[in-house]
Amino acid sequence: MMKKIALAAFAFAVAGSALAIEPDKAIKTRQAGYAYIGWNMNKIKDNVEGTYNQAEVIKAANAIAAIANSGMGALYVKGSEKDVGNVKTYVKPEFFSKPQDAAKYAQAFTKEADELARIAAVGTVAEVKAQHGKVGGTCKACHDDFKMKN
Ligand code: HEC
Repeated sequence: MMKKIALAAFAFAVAGSALAIEPDKAIKTRQAGYAYIGWNMNKIKDNVEGTYNQAEVIKAANAIAAIANSGMGALYVKGSEKDVGNVKTYVKPEFFSKPQDAAKYAQAFTKEADELARIAAVGTVAEVKAQHGKVGGTCKACHDDFKMKN
């Protein structure tokens, strides 16, 4: 049920929605979202590899899950598939030609991010470490197909 809604919402956003944000702002906003996710992923990595601070890990995991669930598909508006002026994008054109595939990667990421937030609250360091690795796998899977190297 949720899956269908997410797919439909995603395809709609790619086709161009009434709530559309300008392409240059869409690029900057999605990049900021990913950068913020990355910062929080690194914090968790530091914790599981160094001194573990559960409160910090919970905050980071919740931030990642919140962004994962924020509907980033809506930031892939028409016109944002290529650079806009001096605003550069690293998205591959396939993101727009195969929106169903992109949505599947986004859903896998969201599912594992939700699980990471759940485990951060109740799990052991080893469990958090393993789940952090699973989330990282979903980042890489999407990047391999849909993000240019930068
Ligand atoms: C559904 C696909 C997808 C998933 C899942 C995904 N990314 Fe990305 N990511 C992208 C795309 C596409 C770009 C390029 C965006 C652009 O330049 O317009 C990007 C860009 C980035 C960037 C560069 C941001 C910048 O400053 O330009 C970072 C860092 C990043 N992702 C980290 C992550 C991390 C960490 C995860 C997982 C926790 C993740 N991404 C999950 C597709 C994805």
